[in-house]
Amino acid sequence: MGEIVQRRLVRKRNLEIALSKVKPHPSPKAYLEQYTIPANVASEFLYLAAYVNDDIIEKTVVDLGCGTGRLAIGAALLGAKQAVGVDIDKTAVRLASKNASSLGVKDRTSWIVADIDAIHGVFDTVIQNPPFGVQKRKADRRFLQKSLELAQRIYSLHKRENSKELAKTLTRGTRIKPAQPSVFLQRFVQRCGGKIRTAYAMIMTIPYMFKFHRKRKHEFLVSLCVIEREAE
Ligand SMILES: C[S@@+](CC[C@H](N)C(=O)[O-])C[C@H]1O[C@@H](n2cnc3c(N)ncnc32)[C@H](O)[C@@H]1O
Repeated sequence: MGEIVQRRLVRKRNLEIALSKVKPHPSPKAYLEQYTIPANVASEFLYLAAYVNDDIIEKTVVDLGCGTGRLAIGAALLGAKQAVGVDIDKTAVRLASKNASSLGVKDRTSWIVADIDAIHGVFDTVIQNPPFGVQKRKADRRFLQKSLELAQRIYSLHKRENSKELAKTLTRGTRIKPAQPSVFLQRFVQRCGGKIRTAYAMIMTIPYMFKFHRKRKHEFLVSLCVIEREAE
């Protein structure tokens, strides 16, 4: 792909192929939960944000915990005015910047090495695949709080409880399906001044990466939450 597509519709499959070229972290750290979002999940995520909800094209977008940049780069490829990636890890951010250059979106992206708490400003949209809090409890909550300070619209990915029923539908070819997020997540977002407008379930498959992974591939259900900040 390479060129910026703006209002021209990009095929989801082409976006996925482009995003599969974003290199993952060479030495991921378990305590930061540095796994890379699979290209198929990233393309579903961004497609929904861009074409179903019009929250990417010509918008200012920030990717909190950007890792090596797959989501921010995807947003830029779809025509974001500017996509800013923030991560606490220097190696990840350096690679994100290189990935952006290789994919032809250097001028529409910027990269910051920082804790998300240090970020202030006004953006149209936050996109994030935060640490799920598996290694460090409650790690995802800080991301939700910060995202609601920065933008009106937030797309946030969270681990969800396993459900055989849901997993069965999703392995039968449906890649994304509307599904209520947990009551806990709904209440937490509400306490932070937001509301989960819609949520979708997806299957996330990541390769074996960390000592505590028991299998060659690690598969679990996630919720993609579309959140809106409520007027004060
Ligand atoms: C699950 S990974 C997601 C990476 C990337 N967004 C993706 O989806 O491929 C979570 C990322 O959050 C970063 N991170 C964790 N805590 C952070 C913090 N307090 N501030 C900034 N980044 C953080 C990690 O370094 C890691 O890259």
